[in-house]
Amino acid sequence: MSEFADVVRRRRMTRSFSDRPIPAGVLEDMVRLAVRAPSAGKTQGWHLVVLEGEDTARFWDITLPPGRRQRFTWPALLDAPAILLPFADPGAYVERYSEPDKEATGLGAGPDAWPAPYWTIDASMSVMTLLLAAEDAGLGALLFGVFKGESELRVELGVPAQLELLGAIALGYAADAGHTPGRSSGRADRSPDQIIHRGGW
Ligand SMILES: Cc1cc2nc3c(=O)[nH]c(=O)nc-3n(C[C@H](O)[C@H](O)[C@H](O)COP(=O)(O)O)c2cc1C
Repeated sequence: MSEFADVVRRRRMTRSFSDRPIPAGVLEDMVRLAVRAPSAGKTQGWHLVVLEGEDTARFWDITLPPGRRQRFTWPALLDAPAILLPFADPGAYVERYSEPDKEATGLGAGPDAWPAPYWTIDASMSVMTLLLAAEDAGLGALLFGVFKGESELRVELGVPAQLELLGAIALGYAADAGHTPGRSSGRADRSPDQIIHRGGW
């Protein structure tokens, strides 16, 4: 198996962490790989807000207040030493596509002119690369939805209004039970036959 296939197959969402800190420089190395993801017009219009150590409480206190933690399925998710919040910036794409080499596309007119949100597509590809880079660095990660408290969180962290939050990434070393499967894990991988439509639908 190639190293690439090995990393892809090994990566699984981690939902229980040890509080061991992430060594200095590892996050920066991961981000250096994530910026190699494809990016429309090489805009690279994404950002990561990073909370580390005790600062992660600023995320959890808003999105999972203490009163709701007893019933939470993954208590050791809160031990993750870092929470990364990936944001996509539509404005960066509008600006980039207003430059002379992209002007003819008309996409500089504003986000509504775009047939697909390239900022979300690009940021998602970078996030995928981050998840693989985490696996390659021996770290576990969980990408999860921020279903509660996003507005309050944005105020707490001073995030500019135009940025779009993709979700949250818990990052750190897996606890022994780190790879306890999520509720959807029993679903089989779809086969190539189910996905490939040769010559049309
Ligand atoms: C956009 C997105 C949102 C997700 N949200 C959650 C979530 O809120 N909670 C969770 O436990 N897992 C979440 N997951 C993880 C999926 O459940 C997981 O990727 C899927 O079951 C496959 O498992 P694997 O990634 O470990 O192979 C999310 C994944 C994606 C891509």
